[in-house]
Amino acid sequence: MFDRIVRRYDLLNRVLSLRLDLSWRRQLARLLPAGPGLRVLDLATGTGDMLFAILDEHPDAGRLMGMDMSAKMLSRGREKLRERQMLDTTPLVRSDATSIAAADGAFDAVTMAFGIRNVEHVLTALREARRVLRTGGRLLILEFSIPRGPFCWVYLFYLRHVMTRIGGYVSGDVAAYEYLNRSIEHFPCGEAFCQLLREAGFRNVRARPQTLGIATIYSGER
Ligand SMILES: C[S@@+](CC[C@H](N)C(=O)[O-])C[C@H]1O[C@@H](n2cnc3c(N)ncnc32)[C@H](O)[C@@H]1O
Repeated sequence: MFDRIVRRYDLLNRVLSLRLDLSWRRQLARLLPAGPGLRVLDLATGTGDMLFAILDEHPDAGRLMGMDMSAKMLSRGREKLRERQMLDTTPLVRSDATSIAAADGAFDAVTMAFGIRNVEHVLTALREARRVLRTGGRLLILEFSIPRGPFCWVYLFYLRHVMTRIGGYVSGDVAAYEYLNRSIEHFPCGEAFCQLLREAGFRNVRARPQTLGIATIYSGER
């Protein structure tokens, strides 16, 4: 599906989130441990926007790597890295988040923006993320969530009727944006997702709601 929508993917992210996606990724990047030489793996990296946010916030990061299953998302990501002359230092690798092509303890941090919701075996992916983190390493996940209170209905109306129509029209792929709506509504958020992180073995788990709770940044430590 992501191979199909890659052409307008970045544009639609900006339009449908009113550019909030950029500030959420920036917030996540700010939660990475400070210090030079940081080794970070970005899972479900897509066209690489999470990596760019990390590079902007941590220009001294030591080794960044992106992984994704979609060859076309990765090739768009490589074009963007080439434009910023960062392709040689930031490898993008085709790999499934449920079977990460990396050694145990290879990274200080693992990030994942809007990716976990799309993975079929969520717990397996979380356990894999933990495996490739060093002891004390940090997992940071950004994902859509459903706000509480009266705003919830406004947001659901937007998801079901506005976002689906604009996304379908601009991308030419109505099914992809209907899937986006369904996947957001059904994916566990808040405490339910924190519980999954604990089940996968993470400690000091925390959820930080963003923008009235329409997205949440989750963190946990190995
Ligand atoms: C909504 S995009 C997010 C891309 C990027 N992280 C961002 O912030 O824009 C979701 C990505 O997850 C990838 N994906 C879905 N399932 C995956 C899996 N099991 N392993 C790796 N990547 C996966 C898709 O190919 C897609 O590029």
